[in-house]
Amino acid sequence: MYLYPVWVRLWHVLNAVLIIILIVTGISMQYTDKENSFFIVSFQRAVKWHNVAAIILTFNYIIFVTGNVLSGNGKYYRIGKKNFLSDLGKQLRYYSWGMFRGEKHPFPVTVDRKFNPLQKLTYVLAMYVALPLIIITGLGLMFPETTVNRIFGTSGLLLTDILHITVGFLISVFVIIHIYTCTLGARPNSLFRGIITGYHESEEH
Ligand code: HEM
Repeated sequence: MYLYPVWVRLWHVLNAVLIIILIVTGISMQYTDKENSFFIVSFQRAVKWHNVAAIILTFNYIIFVTGNVLSGNGKYYRIGKKNFLSDLGKQLRYYSWGMFRGEKHPFPVTVDRKFNPLQKLTYVLAMYVALPLIIITGLGLMFPETTVNRIFGTSGLLLTDILHITVGFLISVFVIIHIYTCTLGARPNSLFRGIITGYHESEEH
């Protein structure tokens, strides 16, 4: 079943590459400074690549949001209040218990339901909470003159930095879990093929 239109696939691959560059250069900058200047890559290069990747990521993010508003893809991200928590519980139970006992997926993929409840929640948190936060705080650090000087007596820039690094850490954890859960399709490589070819391979095959 065709689930990933070309624009989603192009957005996704660019987003994944950029996030990996941002994580690697971000970790590098965490352990270097102008004096002690090399960890994975040099400090100067890490700063340059981090800034360039961040700007491209911001434009790519605008494409993602616009695409979701204008195309039918946005509907997959809508969380309905009815039964959401109990459905989430069913999915968590499946991942922690049912799947090891050979049970069937509780929420098989259909054209109307591309994501299971856990995917939906994590994708909404990653794309509509974490990415806006990391982009806004990143812009605040890139243009420090725009950042509030003092918040409750503490440096506004420091608080922006702490929030930026914390969200960056959470996105890194998301990426690791995301890649793991993407191995849990019909076959370990099915979902990866889906995001490359556009076609989802269902369980029944
Ligand atoms: C780094 C390597 C990555 C790999 C190998 C990967 C793999 C995949 C795969 C196989 C899918 C299709 C399965 C599904 O629909 O759930 C997918 C979808 C998705 N991924 Fe990733 N991903 C990566 C990075 C990321 C990153 C960094 C983010 C966001 C911060 C992300 C966000 C998403 C979203 C939102 C979807 C659903 C897209 C849609 O159909 O609307 N992925 N990914």
